Amino acid sequence: MGKRLSFMVVSLGMLCWSLNLKAEPLVPALYIFGDSSLDVGTNHFIPETQSRADFKPYGIDFPNGEVTGRFSNGYNLADEIAMLLGFKMSPPPFLSLVQRQNSTKHFRRQILNGINFASGGSGLLHETGQKRYNRVISLEEQIQQFATVRRNISVHLKSTADARIKKSIFLFSIGSNDFFDLYFFNNYTVTETMRQQKLHEKLKNYGARKLAVLSISPLGCLPRYRLNPTECNKELNTISFAFYTTLKGILQNLTLQFPEIKYSLGNSPFLSCFTMIFPQVIGFENSTSPCCGDLTRFVSCHPDSKVCGNRTAFFFWDQVHPTQAVCELAASKFFSGDSLHVSPINLSELVRAS
Ligand SMILES: *[C@@H]1O[C@H](CO)[C@@H](O)[C@H](O)[C@H]1NC(C)=O
Ligand SMILES: *[C@@H]1O[C@H](CO)[C@@H](O)[C@H](O)[C@H]1NC(C)=O
Ligand SMILES: *[C@@H]1O[C@H](CO)[C@@H](O)[C@H](O)[C@H]1NC(C)=O
Ligand SMILES: *[C@@H]1O[C@H](CO)[C@@H](O)[C@H](O)[C@H]1NC(C)=O
Ligand SMILES: *[C@@H]1O[C@H](CO)[C@@H](O)[C@H](O)[C@H]1NC(C)=O
Ligand SMILES: *[C@@H]1O[C@H](CO)[C@@H](O)[C@H](O)[C@H]1NC(C)=O
Ligand SMILES: *[C@@H]1O[C@H](CO)[C@@H](O)[C@H](O)[C@H]1NC(C)=O
Repeated sequence: MGKRLSFMVVSLGMLCWSLNLKAEPLVPALYIFGDSSLDVGTNHFIPETQSRADFKPYGIDFPNGEVTGRFSNGYNLADEIAMLLGFKMSPPPFLSLVQRQNSTKHFRRQILNGINFASGGSGLLHETGQKRYNRVISLEEQIQQFATVRRNISVHLKSTADARIKKSIFLFSIGSNDFFDLYFFNNYTVTETMRQQKLHEKLKNYGARKLAVLSISPLGCLPRYRLNPTECNKELNTISFAFYTTLKGILQNLTLQFPEIKYSLGNSPFLSCFTMIFPQVIGFENSTSPCCGDLTRFVSCHPDSKVCGNRTAFFFWDQVHPTQAVCELAASKFFSGDSLHVSPINLSELVRAS
């Protein structure tokens, strides 16, 4: 009996091991929309944009130290979330597929597994970032790009397309640049803009059912906007927390109107504040200065910048973006955290929701 039981345990172990080897992603596809927090190289394919991270030392901790256009020392939030969903990293930028459309087969396969539309410097409002950076792809335009992809998916999959999209995750992180551009941007502007654009209704009509939304971090504590190393800009932080409350209201309203839509809303202000107030508890020694660049404000990370030695000890990679270590932590809280970090359900629950 004992022998038989241990044989069964061993077989079960082997089975799990072999299942693990061929692990399939938890969802059919991941479609990503947003700003530099999720951009994995979109802006690299926009020659005229000035919102770029496609030079060293960006990517210093990416496999082979590759410069990809990510606003990070390594992987970013899009990659970390994609990995938790069982993908190798974030799906590629839409523009990389369009501009390298030498292989239609590759394009077809990729659009079924996911695409990343996020563009650094972009915002909820179409005009956000356009003057400052010369050209960025706004959320509205990103959703138009998805509309094209959506038609391609229907052409390829015919009647099974809807079921696939229904189970896929639509990830969003955007809003910071609207505040940077328009300091007085307020709740009213956000809600009014979102109401007028009807982006959520478009998404719903394209078949999106599972929305994963990350709110903005406390902007007043970013190195660029801090008053000094020990003091955050309270006014900007108040706006950041209000934005979370507004997003929560919009999403609650959306599900009242369309009960078939499910969402996870990540409470980024809570997570970031907790981390910044108690950095040592979570393992960050330095949560005030950027790892890349000097302490002087407004001096961005550039090719000649000094880079800190221990990058896992720093919260900020540059003046506004977190390090890979922070992205990894934030993604794990979003995926499996409790209601303080993500509500009404976490991402792992969103994946399983029917
Ligand atoms: C498509 O072009 C890119 C460069 O533009 C190249 O890296 C890639 O290997 C090409 N793919 C095929 C299938 O030819
Ligand atoms: C995708 O759709 C667009 C227009 O809807 C079309 O021009 C393009 O050829 C399609 N691409 C593929 C690979 O089917
Ligand atoms: C934004 O809306 C939230 C909730 O409706 C409210 O608590 C907050 O005070 C508002 N903030 C501003 C700046 O209007
Ligand atoms: C939610 O819907 C109610 C009722 O239609 C409306 O008064 C409120 O402004 C909406 N809230 C948001 C954040 O859109
Ligand atoms: C963070 O790093 C900067 C630059 O290396 C340094 O000047 C500052 O004292 C550090 N802060 C803490 C709390 O260690
Ligand atoms: C780097 O920082 C992390 C987090 O503070 C720490 O655990 C690790 O030991 C440090 N590594 C080195 C080489 O100092
Ligand atoms: C979040 O996810 C984890 C792991 O997937 C689960 O055990 C947990 O109960 C979830 N929900 C909450 C509210 O913590």
